[in-house]
Amino acid sequence: MTRRAAIILAAGQGTRMKSGLPKVLHPVGGRAMLDHAIDAAEGLGCERVIVVVGNHSPEVRAHVEKRLGAASIAVQDPPLGTGHAVLAARELMADFDGQVVITYGDVPLMKAADVEAAFAGEGLTVVGFEARDATGYGRLLIDADGGLEAIVEHKEASPDQLKVTACNSGVMAAPSRLLFDLLAEVRNDNAKGEYYLTDVVALARERGAPTRAVFAAEDAVMGVNAQGELAQAEALFQKVRRDDLLASGVRMPAPDTVFVSWDTTVEPGAVIEPYVVFGPGAVVRAGARIRAFSHVEGAEVGPGAEVGPYARLRPGAKLGDKAKVGNFVEVKNVTMGAGAKANHLSYLGDGVVGAGANIGAGTIFCNYDGFFKHRTEVGQGAFVGSNSSLVAPVTIGAGAMVGSGSVVTSDVAPGDLALARAPRTTKAGWAARFMETMRAKKAARG
Ligand code: UD1
Ligand code: CA
Repeated sequence: MTRRAAIILAAGQGTRMKSGLPKVLHPVGGRAMLDHAIDAAEGLGCERVIVVVGNHSPEVRAHVEKRLGAASIAVQDPPLGTGHAVLAARELMADFDGQVVITYGDVPLMKAADVEAAFAGEGLTVVGFEARDATGYGRLLIDADGGLEAIVEHKEASPDQLKVTACNSGVMAAPSRLLFDLLAEVRNDNAKGEYYLTDVVALARERGAPTRAVFAAEDAVMGVNAQGELAQAEALFQKVRRDDLLASGVRMPAPDTVFVSWDTTVEPGAVIEPYVVFGPGAVVRAGARIRAFSHVEGAEVGPGAEVGPYARLRPGAKLGDKAKVGNFVEVKNVTMGAGAKANHLSYLGDGVVGAGANIGAGTIFCNYDGFFKHRTEVGQGAFVGSNSSLVAPVTIGAGAMVGSGSVVTSDVAPGDLALARAPRTTKAGWAARFMETMRAKKAARG
């Protein structure tokens, strides 16, 4: 295989998003669009992935640096068009001899397989698609022999050219030497006063280099320029992922109401009830059931475990076999052993709940003192009575019991009962006498 490298363009202003967040960091399936683009480049076997970033968005730069390292960043300043952007990577590519694929950071649904065909030919290959609505896209001008003559941008297109529905996805592959030679000739005398990458097609033609288009599905290569398109991309992403889950044997009676993330893992035989939302990092094992209106993120739900309805699992929640977390329970960074239960109205943060332990309704792990987080450990088979506050750091021993309504500030030994609540006082008959007096007073006032 010839060597491959990718240049991902992510230096545009993204003004049409009207957002404080740089466009390419907007998420689809809980993952930045730019990361989807990097995934595709890596999936294509690119040994080098360069991302072109602008000085106007340090967040994008930091994001790329974290994932790929500083050596993968090319800076385009100021952004003068897509052709100008690719040129910003020229130095970093000077020692590279092979095929270069250019992709855009705002094309989030594209997978490596969708554009693999771009590498098949010689010369320059553009990945196109048939658009339902071609507005805004560059049009592919294809000659009688099926060769690609030129790409004309929407703003430059004649009325006849605007009727063309074959559009430029933005993905282009070419030998690196040819690509950079052509880019050096691109000028900015056009409607936007920008250096268009798309001009390299006509320039290649002029010098007799082969140019062609290959086609991908529109849904795979749609570009995101505005919030409406971001929502469309999200809808397409969700549809594909839900269908994959259903096909794999996950039971989901109302799939359209379930939201998944890019890395959501649900094993066959699990049940996902309506209106469940998965943030990134969720794993649901076989036979588990996530009941309606639950939110699961960064958490693992063990085989046969049950969550919800209306439960929230936050990062670090790990439920063992057949554990149960019921309505209005929030679990964060807590491992629950096999068969452990917290069925109602609790907050469990930072700790461990042993196998078979029972956490009563309204229990709170008081994990935060205003400065630091502390751990709560509840031993195997322990029983924590309702409405108890366990003030961390604290350990409830195996098989111990905590009386309902207790505020527990020190450890409870295995097998002990802890009662940490005010002793009761009783005033015999007091209520009856009081009510009688008050009723009489009220009657006297009419
Ligand atoms: C571009 C294509 C168009 C294609 C469409 C597909 C050009 C001239 N036009 O139009 O043919 O149909 O994508 O989605 O290439 N960028 C930079 N630096 C710049 C300008 C843009 O890095 O100076 C980056 C942007 O961050 C973005 C990508 O390039 O990721 C595309 O830029 P955008 O302005 O969105 O181009 P389109 O108008 O969508
Ligand atoms: Ca775009």
